[in-house]
Amino acid sequence: MSTGPAERPRRLRTTPAMRDLLAEHRTHPRDLVLPMFVKERASEPVSLPSMPGVVQHTLDSLRRAATEAAEAGVGGLMLFGVPEVRDAVGSCATDPEGILNAGLRALVEEVGDDLVVMSDLCLDEFTDHGHCGVLDGAGRVDNDATLERYQDMALAQAETGAHMLGLSGMMDGQTLAVRQALDNAGHTDTSILAYSAKYASAFYGPFRDAVESQLQGDRRTYQMDPANRREGLREATLDLVEGADVVMVKPAMSYLDVLSDVAEASPVPVAAYQVSGEYAMIEAAAAQGWIERRRAIEESVLSIRRAGADVVLTYWATELAGWLR
Ligand code: PBG
Repeated sequence: MSTGPAERPRRLRTTPAMRDLLAEHRTHPRDLVLPMFVKERASEPVSLPSMPGVVQHTLDSLRRAATEAAEAGVGGLMLFGVPEVRDAVGSCATDPEGILNAGLRALVEEVGDDLVVMSDLCLDEFTDHGHCGVLDGAGRVDNDATLERYQDMALAQAETGAHMLGLSGMMDGQTLAVRQALDNAGHTDTSILAYSAKYASAFYGPFRDAVESQLQGDRRTYQMDPANRREGLREATLDLVEGADVVMVKPAMSYLDVLSDVAEASPVPVAAYQVSGEYAMIEAAAAQGWIERRRAIEESVLSIRRAGADVVLTYWATELAGWLR
């Protein structure tokens, strides 16, 4: 008499209905956030060669794309500004008429009742040296002087009606500084998404084209060392103590271990950012016919959900939401 295996996990894989019913994780359109770029004084949307399908928007095309995302059921939008003029302190970032603040007002007006409008709160798009903060006399990024700029930037963004501010600069104490500034000005309902564990990653390459970054050198004195896992939890813990409403890990796919650690420990929702280089890799391989585009996109985002992200920022948000409905 032959005795087969006692356990037969394949029983639960026999039909699509069985697999669907028993899936441990799913992606829902509402879990997705679409990052968008708006370019000052652009007369036409500008395509980005390193991010096929992504554009620098005009204020008008931004509104249209936001409406499309809302119709597809996406949960939120994250806006980045591309200014015409940059200077040492990133003045455009705190100018109420600056492109990012103007774009935020447009988004709030267009879709603010239907989805969460988020802003990038960082100086790198606005500084002529391309760093995420202001520099001291020796050319180093000055942490505490930068916090004051972030506070002013936060107030300008909160005034636009943006719902959630994405603190992506990796300065020490930025979450506390911004929370205090918001509260002192009465913006107690403006929430903070802290880019807690943000690594100094090669996968931001295409993004720097998208925002026309002026950076020479790197960000390794403030963004994290890709070698460090434990430190990801430390950074997230600090942001929680400082008042973060949501914590984020970035990039996503190469940092799923860090994401899993943070998701396990966090009492607040956890986000992950599938960054420009992750997007570009899959698009490039798919364009060559080397991988199946749709399956690769769905699998990549599902992996990020499986590792523990409640919310995923992805440039495919609108398209993916359309497939998922
Ligand atoms: C900094 C910022 C960056 C990204 C989001 N916010 C770039 C950087 O740190 O150099 C990268 C996002 C992406 O690559 O998609 N404001």
